[in-house]
Amino acid sequence: MKAISARPLVDEGRMKGRVEGKIALVTGGASRPGLGASIAERLAEEGAIVIVTDVDLAGVEQTAEGIRARDLSATAMAQDVTSQGDWDAVINAVVEEHGRLDILVNNAGILVVGQIADETAASALQRQFDVNVAGCLMGTQAAVKAMRNGGHCGSIINVSSVAGLVGFRGSATYAATKGAVKLMSKSAALETAAEGIRINTVHPGIIRTNMQSAAVDDNSANYDAIVASIPAGELGEPRDIANCVLFLASDEASYVMGAEFVVDGGYTAQ
Ligand SMILES: NC(=O)c1ccc[n+]([C@@H]2O[C@H](COP(=O)([O-])OP(=O)(O)OC[C@H]3O[C@@H](n4cnc5c(N)ncnc54)[C@H](O)[C@@H]3O)[C@@H](O)[C@H]2O)c1
Repeated sequence: MKAISARPLVDEGRMKGRVEGKIALVTGGASRPGLGASIAERLAEEGAIVIVTDVDLAGVEQTAEGIRARDLSATAMAQDVTSQGDWDAVINAVVEEHGRLDILVNNAGILVVGQIADETAASALQRQFDVNVAGCLMGTQAAVKAMRNGGHCGSIINVSSVAGLVGFRGSATYAATKGAVKLMSKSAALETAAEGIRINTVHPGIIRTNMQSAAVDDNSANYDAIVASIPAGELGEPRDIANCVLFLASDEASYVMGAEFVVDGGYTAQ
């Protein structure tokens, strides 16, 4: 089985400026290790002016500080993605400060592990649906409006999951929300494609973040089996997802619309 060092590393130093000057909003950026923090950092490395949000303001401020400490651009804001008022406030603040919004990454999400027969399944579904689906929908809607009002192109990247593509024991309610994100995004993409507002989904596999650490504790037996069956032979790193998001955010992906990008070490290829 391949070791992690067997994977070729991208020479990121030779590709600076892939999203130079673009205004990028990333949700769910407090968790470290977490996908939102890594995505925010990667976009900033390539020249974006990043606004990173989370319900955990102290945590997301630390993420932004860490990015600024590298002489890159990042600002933190408090935001609950389930609140329409918060979406209005954040998008208005971004447009007022920067004049536009070019990139939105709907990354904030929660995972509640449990069996379909659990008494709590319906309430777990509702909680996850509010954050993972309604939050993503409100964000997509707010960004489309802001991009349309500005009369310019834009890229919206919605973070789904491999659980939005194939079944996972112990994750039926989560999978329901991530499948919904995929098809909501494709449908929305059809409505905005001709305006150059691109909407795509990213489907991470099993990535080393705080969410995964918690999932291991809740579901260790299944988890060991899942990790053992990843063709790459290892978990993914947040930066693996951030690099895919970077591509979709950049003008390199200008003809990519309504597509699903799987970054999972080959897991769903089996
Ligand atoms: N880590 C993985 O293996 C994996 C795999 C597939 C998909 N995903 C998805 O990627 C995204 C990020 O996952 P992660 O592993 O970094 O998770 P994480 O739990 O480490 O971080 C999620 C962040 O979202 C924030 N958040 C939660 N509810 C929020 C709300 N209502 N409003 C604003 N912020 C909120 C949390 O405070 C946290 O900072 C999620 O959508 C998740 O479902 C992760």
